[in-house]
Amino acid sequence: MYACICNGLKDTDVCEAIAEGACSVEQAYAMLDCRLMCGKCACDVEARLLTPLVASHIRQPACQA
Ligand code: FES
Repeated sequence: MYACICNGLKDTDVCEAIAEGACSVEQAYAMLDCRLMCGKCACDVEARLLTPLVASHIRQPACQA
């Protein structure tokens, strides 16, 4: 499933960036050499992928502040 049409990112791409330490949609896209463009995907990516995955990754010190 595509997470971001503007950048052609799939869920798996975003999940990999999150697994590598991205703590925000902007960070995840930057790690994938992309950026938010229209922004329509941001809320969906955050709710569906980022929040659940970050919450499940206890080993993300960059996300703990
Ligand atoms: S759909 Fe992701 S920036 Fe437009």
